[in-house]
Amino acid sequence: MTGITVRQLMPEDFAILREIRLEALKLHPEAYSSAYEDWVKFSDDDWRAKLSAPVFAAFHGDKTVGLIGLWPQAGIRTAHRAIVVMVYVKSEMRGNGIAQKLMQAVELYARENNISQLELSVLADNETAWRLYKREGYTEFGRRPNWISLNGEKFDEVMMFRPIAVNV
Ligand SMILES: CC(C)(COP(=O)(O)OP(=O)(O)OC[C@H]1O[C@@H](n2cnc3c(N)ncnc32)[C@H](O)[C@@H]1OP(=O)(O)O)[C@@H](O)C(=O)NCCC(=O)NCCS
Repeated sequence: MTGITVRQLMPEDFAILREIRLEALKLHPEAYSSAYEDWVKFSDDDWRAKLSAPVFAAFHGDKTVGLIGLWPQAGIRTAHRAIVVMVYVKSEMRGNGIAQKLMQAVELYARENNISQLELSVLADNETAWRLYKREGYTEFGRRPNWISLNGEKFDEVMMFRPIAVNV
């Protein structure tokens, strides 16, 4: 699809993050470990603070259509790793490679910031997301049992990683 742009959100963009993140959590409780009920309580400052880590949004014109975040790990022994989080594309925009574009944005960020391993987790029943991550070069390395509890049901989480060739 043409006309999709991806850019990093800055702290002043917190309202953009709030709108699309709350939509993702509300519409897809089965896809995330985080809960809408927790995030909806955040203050403006909480949302701004979320943007101190790299977060990228996809836009179609001026409409926000997708989201991805990255948590670079602190500390000299773990700074080569980062966790991919908050992956979401609006339902009417899916199947156009927008998630792939968002994954490429975090990959580029990793390359430019000396991060040589990306990691993520996907709830075990989320086959669409799992296929996306496989296609993007992620490999499964484990499974956490009973990772979340949703409406009385427990769901496992599959952990995946992908090496990144960093710029030297
Ligand atoms: C998972 C999710 C982010 C994927 O977003 P997306 O933008 O549709 O992803 P892509 O378009 O890159 O890929 C989706 C499908 O479209 C296909 N596709 C990609 N580009 C395409 C194109 N240009 N034309 C046609 N099909 C295309 C892909 O092959 C893929 O097919 P498959 O699922 O049958 O393998 C989205 O479904 C979503 O937000 N789901 C709800 C929340 C969620 O599960 N988040 C992940 C939490 S771990």
